[in-house]
Amino acid sequence: MTILVTGGAGYIGSHTTDRLIEQGTDVIVVDNLLTGHRAAINPKARFYEGDVRDRDFLEGVFTKEKIDGVVHFAANSLVGESMKDPLKYFDNNDYGFIVLLETMVKFDVKKLVFSSTAATYGEAKEIPITETTPQVPTNPYGESKLTMEKFAHWADVAHDLKWVALRYFNVAGAKSDGSIGEDHHPETHLIPIVLQVASGKREKLQIFGGDYATKDGTNVRDYVHVIDLADAHIEALNYLSEGNDSSAFNLGSANGFSNLEIVEAARKVTKQPIPYEIADRRPGDPSTLVASSEKAREVLGWKPNYDDMESIIATAWTWTQQHPNGYEK
Ligand code: UFG
Repeated sequence: MTILVTGGAGYIGSHTTDRLIEQGTDVIVVDNLLTGHRAAINPKARFYEGDVRDRDFLEGVFTKEKIDGVVHFAANSLVGESMKDPLKYFDNNDYGFIVLLETMVKFDVKKLVFSSTAATYGEAKEIPITETTPQVPTNPYGESKLTMEKFAHWADVAHDLKWVALRYFNVAGAKSDGSIGEDHHPETHLIPIVLQVASGKREKLQIFGGDYATKDGTNVRDYVHVIDLADAHIEALNYLSEGNDSSAFNLGSANGFSNLEIVEAARKVTKQPIPYEIADRRPGDPSTLVASSEKAREVLGWKPNYDDMESIIATAWTWTQQHPNGYEK
């Protein structure tokens, strides 16, 4: 089986590529390297540098390779940035998805697993969030991903293109040997920033908002280990190969950690003080995102291996210590 992974040089894409290859799958990676890293791509993957919005480029890849299915990551994914530059998100995420869907239809590729997000739910009225919780995004990033889910639905109705949308909650950690991990420029995610403070690269952490209606006033998020998340994509591909219907699944742990609890857990793992201050809220942030992933467990047979925060952070810490400058030499 040959699988195209778009965004395979990114954080989640590179870990999924690696897991697919470990399991003997032939993998093609497409990435424009705007946020991804060449060094993150498993060398056994065939790499094509280019943008999914570039129709000629993408059709060229589909012409050269015999693709059986697609795992689509290539997208922008920052809540804060999307509030400032919403059209960038609709262009890259939604227009890019249209070009991908049209190319798949043209080349008769009918299996697609793609990244959606907890951000499609917005300020959910029920916690834990299930797949039937109303999707009302509070930021353009979540809106762009909800739009992708809608496009995929209609592509299935018209073209029988079967898809699985995986709604990720907060992803963290790294491959346990520390060879690949999370590296964004600029870094905006909580756990890598906390670890930059622990390693002395940053002076202190700013916690965005201390007056939310949560256990300690800071935002609550549900963290999944990146390898567990990668494995869910493989299970979703198997689900589609078995001829099942298109569907969306939450991927989380059902455990909510406040931002302060993350600092505490990171202090235990790193044995560093990790100073912080409470700063203004970050626009677009919902107060609490906690998933029910019962459906993924029951239907996909997904069983996350990492179930405690400290062991998730420990893998990210190994990566941070081995790669103080990320993928930069
Ligand atoms: N935070 C801080 N200080 C920082 C960075 C983050 O307090 O320096 C806080 C945020 O305000 C938020 C929490 O840490 O409360 C987590 O923020 P991240 O930026 O790490 O992650 P988000 O929850 O904003 O978003 C992540 C992904 C999205 C995805 C979402 C789903 O980036 O793509 O999880 O839960 F949609």
